Amino acid sequence: MLRCILWVLWFTTISTCAEVQFPKFEATSSFNSSFTPDHMRYLRNETKSLFDHAWTSYMKYGFPMDEVRPITCEPYGPDVKDYTNVIRNDVLGNISSTLMDNLDTLVILEKWDDLEMALGYLYREKDSYFDKDVVVQVFEMTIRSLGGLLSIHTILSDSSLMKNLRFRQICQNYDGFLLEMAYDLGKRLIPAFKTTNNIPVPRVNLKRGVKGVPSSLQLETCTSGVTTPVLEMTLLSKLTGDLQFEKYTQLAFWKIWNSRSSLDLLPMTISPAESEWKDSITGIGASIDSFYEYCVKGSILFDDTHMWEVFKTSYKALMTHSVKGSPDEFTSLIFANIGSEEGLDATIWIDSLSGFWPGVQVLSGQLKDAIGTHMVFLKLWDYFQIIPERWNFLLPKEAIKSEEDTIGLEWYPLRPEFVESTYYLYQATHDPMYLQIGETVLNLFKTKFMAPCGFKGVQDVRTGSFQNRMESFVLSETLKYLYLLFDEQNEVFLHSKRMGDTNWVFSTEGHPLWFDYNTEKTFKGSNITPKKHEFVAEGHRENSMFKSFKGLFSTTRKLKDGTTKDITIEYIDDHEFVDPFQYKFDKCEVNPFTSGSTDFMKSSYYELDNLFNLDYEYSSHLYHPHYLPQTSLDNSYIELADDFYKRFTLFNPKLTCSLQSNTEKFDIFIGDKTSIRNNSLTLIPSSNTLWIHEFDNVRLSMELIQKGKIDSRHNYITQQQVETTNSRLVEGVLDPNITLYDASVRITRINGVFVKPEHELVVSRFTQDQLKRPGANKRKDRLTIYNSQVLLDGVVIENLRITD
Ligand SMILES: *[C@@H]1O[C@H](CO)[C@@H](O)[C@H](O)[C@H]1NC(C)=O
Ligand SMILES: *[C@@H]1O[C@H](CO)[C@@H](O)[C@H](O)[C@H]1NC(C)=O
Ligand SMILES: *[C@@H]1O[C@H](CO)[C@@H](O)[C@H](O)[C@H]1NC(C)=O
Ligand SMILES: *[C@@H]1O[C@H](CO)[C@@H](O)[C@H](O)[C@H]1NC(C)=O
Ligand SMILES: *[C@@H]1O[C@H](CO)[C@@H](O)[C@H](O)[C@H]1NC(C)=O
Repeated sequence: MLRCILWVLWFTTISTCAEVQFPKFEATSSFNSSFTPDHMRYLRNETKSLFDHAWTSYMKYGFPMDEVRPITCEPYGPDVKDYTNVIRNDVLGNISSTLMDNLDTLVILEKWDDLEMALGYLYREKDSYFDKDVVVQVFEMTIRSLGGLLSIHTILSDSSLMKNLRFRQICQNYDGFLLEMAYDLGKRLIPAFKTTNNIPVPRVNLKRGVKGVPSSLQLETCTSGVTTPVLEMTLLSKLTGDLQFEKYTQLAFWKIWNSRSSLDLLPMTISPAESEWKDSITGIGASIDSFYEYCVKGSILFDDTHMWEVFKTSYKALMTHSVKGSPDEFTSLIFANIGSEEGLDATIWIDSLSGFWPGVQVLSGQLKDAIGTHMVFLKLWDYFQIIPERWNFLLPKEAIKSEEDTIGLEWYPLRPEFVESTYYLYQATHDPMYLQIGETVLNLFKTKFMAPCGFKGVQDVRTGSFQNRMESFVLSETLKYLYLLFDEQNEVFLHSKRMGDTNWVFSTEGHPLWFDYNTEKTFKGSNITPKKHEFVAEGHRENSMFKSFKGLFSTTRKLKDGTTKDITIEYIDDHEFVDPFQYKFDKCEVNPFTSGSTDFMKSSYYELDNLFNLDYEYSSHLYHPHYLPQTSLDNSYIELADDFYKRFTLFNPKLTCSLQSNTEKFDIFIGDKTSIRNNSLTLIPSSNTLWIHEFDNVRLSMELIQKGKIDSRHNYITQQQVETTNSRLVEGVLDPNITLYDASVRITRINGVFVKPEHELVVSRFTQDQLKRPGANKRKDRLTIYNSQVLLDGVVIENLRITD
């Protein structure tokens, strides 16, 4: 669940509701992290009980309003007195949002009575259901209600999905009215997209259209808001045969993509009227998150190779400019917010919403990256027992007066993203650590978040206070993904073999969506049969950069110093030269975690020697709020929970910690930043060579290798090691402040590609005079060549060779 605006202060009313009964839960489970089939059944059952509690409370005290307030058991809907209260009104359209958002959840949790009741209500109300004089946000309405309706329509149109008799009966009685409702809603939302410049306005009045919205509410929209509706709307067009939804949302999507910066990055704030960006910050979190998500999911759902290319281009840009991490395997990766024009850090925080990213990384086949990104959110949960809306991980240590300064925004409205990514990672790896995470979250729902009429999120992580609000995504996503995490054995149709052959995705709101080109069931009353989407197969991509420079490698070349291996590129066939990003996306990472082992009784987490690096690296930015236990040995660290640790180390604990790197690290740009995207790298896997034709238009991450320090590969740097590197030079100290045998420089990342220890970078042409380093620096930053070695300020770049 994603959102444009999040700097909201929630208001809390604390007063409890006496007559309400809390559900009964066992105080502690007798299973204790065993994850046997019985234990998994127990976990599913417990999750279902949690859902029942919230759903029953909503139906009793909230319905037909949009939500129920969990602490005070009151109904909650739009703010009718203050139309500028968009935080509340954007998602609350007086349309029973919690019900709209959870129709498919009722199927997944097999709540047939509740489903029949909800369907009966909608059937009675369908004709005037959306005919409400309310201003809503098009994005929120699309992902929650339109997506919800499309999902339940798709499910009910296919009675072969489940064996359950009740379900089959419900399907038989279903006449397609939910698609009619979706069509009605779509027609009320699409006018927002029919602007002269194809950039949609953010809001509509459901009854009175765009004209019914005060212009002060239409000034700004965000990248997610403009580009995300394309998925639900395209599906609506395919199901109804009315092409306007696909047409207008696709126009908006491609218009935005075409206005990306020269670094292939999209800013996040747009003025629809002026048709221009209002800001240049970008990242992966709030305001842009679902753009990336739907590039991947759109490419899966509609076999759309164009969207897949957009995702890969974006991923490469983020790996070049945004990511913080090391070339380590399973290193923790933080995707920082950066300026889209210059690619430098633009904020000090990451947000809770970016917790969706590991799920998208899994879907796109980037499993190692996903594990590393997810670890950051795991650590946040370890310390705060929630994920704060914003965490100031880049706040300089000197600026931290109180540990609370590291909290950028202090609330947690029970957002689903962490559980969602955990679900994807468990499906991909089957590492029991992900179940342990799920059980920990489940236990907190049973205790800490439990409220008389649902679940209460955290208002302020610094004080431990709660908020009297339960958004519809708590049920439709957080509890749904939790349930599905424990449901690996096909008990729900989603994990069945049949669905394994279907191109289905969860929408950004957790609604399962798929589109069967052969389906007979179309919109009743529409005589247009959906056509099969044209599949544009792109075929094998040629590495054109390599092709044009191939002649350079027509003879065997030996490096001048003679100490390194020969590079005999002429013997290598064309197909052995690959674009490292193409390579990254083409090969399928099948559970990289266990390196072949499928032992159930073992978590691969305990093999990671960098499991606690983040704790050290951000020791000034991670702390336990005063009301939580202060020690790591009380089971509050998920990865150190006693029972789990004993079981899943196979009684052979191997937990080791690597040395914490303390080398100086910096980035440099050479040449023109805006041409970085055109300077392709070539990987020659057989010789572990990364070849770059011209050492120009590159972004490099580097570290200074000095004796006595610990490098980013966690090795202690010895005098001998530095001397060996430097012995290739006879003399030539250019910077008087650095003596030759003291240091070398190592490239750790070049244009988004991590340079692994086994890699050697080879460059064939060289530019000397365009080097820039962001930020203040005392160095001269000069590149020179000496004996085939490239030197930065007189210090050897140890993993870079130049061919002459
Ligand atoms: C599970 O843990 C609880 C609390 O640590 C303990 O009281 C109980 O005996 C354990 N149960 C089993 C089956 O080990
Ligand atoms: C599921 O939980 C309910 C109470 O919440 C309990 O009555 C029932 O026996 C449980 N079923 C299983 C299979 O554990
Ligand atoms: C909400 O919808 C109900 C039912 O259609 C209607 O009676 C009520 O007036 C609406 N409330 C607001 C605030 O629009
Ligand atoms: C760089 O690549 C983009 C496409 O990625 C292309 O549109 C542009 O013309 C290229 N620029 C140059 C200078 O080659
Ligand atoms: C060398 O270091 C000294 C003292 O730190 C400084 O004043 C001087 O500018 C440095 N020289 C160069 C060439 O960087």
